[in-house]
Amino acid sequence: MTGMSSKYNNDGVAMTMTVEQSRFKSTAPIEDVEEDVAAAVAAATVAVEDDGGVTHHRNHDNTDSDNISIDEVLDLNTAKAGTASPWAVFDAWGAGDAMEHPLTAEEENRLSVESVKIPTSKDETVPFDETSILASYDKLLKQRSSVHFGYPYNLMYNHEELYDFMRYSINNLGDPFIPSNYGVHSRQFECSVIDFFADLWKIDKGDYWGYVTTCGTEGNLHGMLLARECHPDGILYSSKETHYSIFKAARYYRMDAKAIPTLPQGEIDYDILASEIDKNRDRPVIINVNIGTTVKGAVDNLDRILRILKMLNIPRERFHIHCDGALVAMMMPFVDYAPEISFRKPIDSIAVSGHKMLGCPMPCGITLARKEHVKNVEQRIDYLNSVDTTIMGSRNGQAALYLWYSLRKKGVDGIQRDVVHCMETAQYLRQKISEAGMTCRLNDLSCTVVLERPMDDRLIKRWQLACEEDIAHVVVMPNITIEKIDKFVKELVDCKNEFGRIEAKHDDSPLNKLACSSWGGNVVAPVETFASV
Ligand SMILES: Cc1ncc(COP(=O)(O)O)c(C=O)c1O
Repeated sequence: MTGMSSKYNNDGVAMTMTVEQSRFKSTAPIEDVEEDVAAAVAAATVAVEDDGGVTHHRNHDNTDSDNISIDEVLDLNTAKAGTASPWAVFDAWGAGDAMEHPLTAEEENRLSVESVKIPTSKDETVPFDETSILASYDKLLKQRSSVHFGYPYNLMYNHEELYDFMRYSINNLGDPFIPSNYGVHSRQFECSVIDFFADLWKIDKGDYWGYVTTCGTEGNLHGMLLARECHPDGILYSSKETHYSIFKAARYYRMDAKAIPTLPQGEIDYDILASEIDKNRDRPVIINVNIGTTVKGAVDNLDRILRILKMLNIPRERFHIHCDGALVAMMMPFVDYAPEISFRKPIDSIAVSGHKMLGCPMPCGITLARKEHVKNVEQRIDYLNSVDTTIMGSRNGQAALYLWYSLRKKGVDGIQRDVVHCMETAQYLRQKISEAGMTCRLNDLSCTVVLERPMDDRLIKRWQLACEEDIAHVVVMPNITIEKIDKFVKELVDCKNEFGRIEAKHDDSPLNKLACSSWGGNVVAPVETFASV
């Protein structure tokens, strides 16, 4: 099967093209039409779902996984919750000998701790000069970037035109809308980026405030800060599968927080959320809505949450909603018939990462909030000749420029092509893994394929997969091609043949949750076929 992806002409009419064309030409004019993607993808999906030969995934005690026990609401001042940082789970960047184009021993040596050490006395000599060290480092990064599957980073971008601006110390210190006396800034570009997102998430001019952050985490920290300042005695509710930055914010700001259990696909358990809010009616409600969870890419149903608040008669002035949009809030506006995530609904802030869907050589993000809330944190700082409204003081002006450049060059058509590519290629990956007799799942609106954890850690490190207990995931980004997927699946199958398949760690483990029928379709059973047991 050739890689395929939809593309759109200037009138927004869907056309089709190969993945190779769309991958490398998201900023280029549209070219010739090749195949009808929608039909092919639909056929592929049916092929997966019609695979009557596969056994429904069951637990070891042979009960259906839908019977997984409901776990408790965690009170966050007493227990740790949230998804651990992928960085904390394992060394995702650890190189192995099995790399396709491994560095030579000599090149690896140039990157050793001893080789890159900075001398602290005149007598110390260095084994290699900086140029040869950097040449090896360049090769290493190229190689790692070519086999990266686990984290939601778009590695396909081209900012060459901006390289000259790296000569400047561009700093947007202070508020984006109130210039400080420091003149080497990129505020005009930052404000333009904010305006773009305000338009995307439908908030009127004059009603919003936002800034370019260092990452999605900073956007979450800011969103949570606004929430606490608006409702100092509020309780934060967020699902257990929430990114750890939200509960970190709760700890930093000494907020009471409740980690609500999730449904098997990773969305918040709406009934438990409702009953917890009901139990604590005397306190304002702060909700973090996950627009794509870290591990499963699950999107909490904002409308359903709003209906719960209405049903419980919580007035608007008693609730505050932050949307952690990291990867997916940047995708949903470009997906036909996706639920609307926007300020037309009673939400208060949205944060996304800039280096994820859009792609950027430095981590960055965007946060947007209702302007009226920012007054609660604002402080006039004479030294800046601006106001302090952001989490950081000095702020990366390069990031604002890079984001502006990506948005201008790609335009909405280019972003839409990238989004369609990710979602369709993720379906292809799900199909290939299922056909190979392994368990995997893909949430609606998501490009995160969740699969059983491969038994060989070398494969995990080579492809830099993110893992949680007995599952792993691949986040299909614009730089992931059908050809790479075929190569990956082949190695996955070789790994299965040599080492067998992972056994679910416990009844409630992430792997067993992949088996629940609420995901829909069929799933390959992990039991009975373990070569390793
Ligand atoms: C759902 C979610 N929120 C927030 C973040 C944090 O984003 P960043 O890594 O840009 O700080 C992530 C990162 O993966 C995420 O998956």
